[in-house]
Amino acid sequence: MAVDLKARLAHVELPNPVLTASGCAGSGRELAQFFDVAKIGAVVTKSVMLAPRAGRPAPRMAETPSGMLNSIGLQGPGIDAFLQRDLPWLLSRGARAVVSIAGSTVDEYAELATRLSDASGLTAVEVNISCPNVEDRGQVFACDAGAAAAVVAAVRGRLRYDVPLFAKLSPDVTDIVSIAGACVAAGADGLSMINTLLGMAIDTRTMRPALAGLTGGLSGPAIRPVAVRCIWQVHEAFPDVPIIGMGGVRTGRDAMELILAGASMVSVGTVIFHDPSACLRILRELEEELAAGGIDRLADVIGLAHEPGRMPGRRLSGSVL
Ligand SMILES: Cc1cc2nc3c(=O)[nH]c(=O)nc-3n(C[C@H](O)[C@H](O)[C@H](O)COP(=O)(O)O)c2cc1C
Repeated sequence: MAVDLKARLAHVELPNPVLTASGCAGSGRELAQFFDVAKIGAVVTKSVMLAPRAGRPAPRMAETPSGMLNSIGLQGPGIDAFLQRDLPWLLSRGARAVVSIAGSTVDEYAELATRLSDASGLTAVEVNISCPNVEDRGQVFACDAGAAAAVVAAVRGRLRYDVPLFAKLSPDVTDIVSIAGACVAAGADGLSMINTLLGMAIDTRTMRPALAGLTGGLSGPAIRPVAVRCIWQVHEAFPDVPIIGMGGVRTGRDAMELILAGASMVSVGTVIFHDPSACLRILRELEEELAAGGIDRLADVIGLAHEPGRMPGRRLSGSVL
């Protein structure tokens, strides 16, 4: 049975719902030696800042049980090199590009949006707000509804109206629904969640922190239940707002879990480091999972876990209800 896997990134249609997660596949070039990057829903690029950045000192990765800590620190070429070199390459491969941006001030985000408004071929912009605001004692934008909304409004105001804006939320907050609501009210067309959780590891041999940057972002399967919870809560509050779900997805079944919680697309991150073709495999497994449940449209299962009485698909509606 052919499953209709089409997904909607706000008003933009994607052939399927599997995306890369920002920072885990550069700008797609590294993945292209393993599979055709035009085959997945979209490539979400590493968050780009205005100026080139070297990132934080090494060691900047540490393994943890079912997860990984990283303190890469947004290393990257800066927006000019990205627009001259990386984006055209991605588009030349026929891939859809979701460009992730990050800044240290609201004005920096606005300037990035201005530069992007001249670029053609963007599928969407994902605004990574898990960055310290240098104008507010390093308080992370995503942890304060007002600051998160200020960034979203500034970017929305400069971006071309037809380019969807997704705000990427941090799980390190007391009430993710209020941050989500503030972003939507400020003009976000959709939400991406979750970014990494702040963590730390200490090397008991050296008796020192494992990462040179002391703290790092926790990702991988260990965080999937947190992602499911965040997506569930936000979808419950804003059922019409599209969500790109991410956090510990390793298999098609994991992707399905996020979709049942309310995600309409799924980004794949940490697993790419040991299985570079994971996005294509997960896409295939997701299709098999849906087909096995007698479900012929992905759209029918988005947020389905919220509706205990409804079962989609030919086989399930006949046999289970
Ligand atoms: C090495 C690494 C680098 C990352 N860089 C970024 C980034 O530049 N921008 C961003 O929004 N998220 C970044 N993330 C977070 C991922 O996009 C994703 O939200 C998170 O890792 C959860 O998904 P996962 O468990 O599948 O990796 C990074 C994650 C990792 C592991």
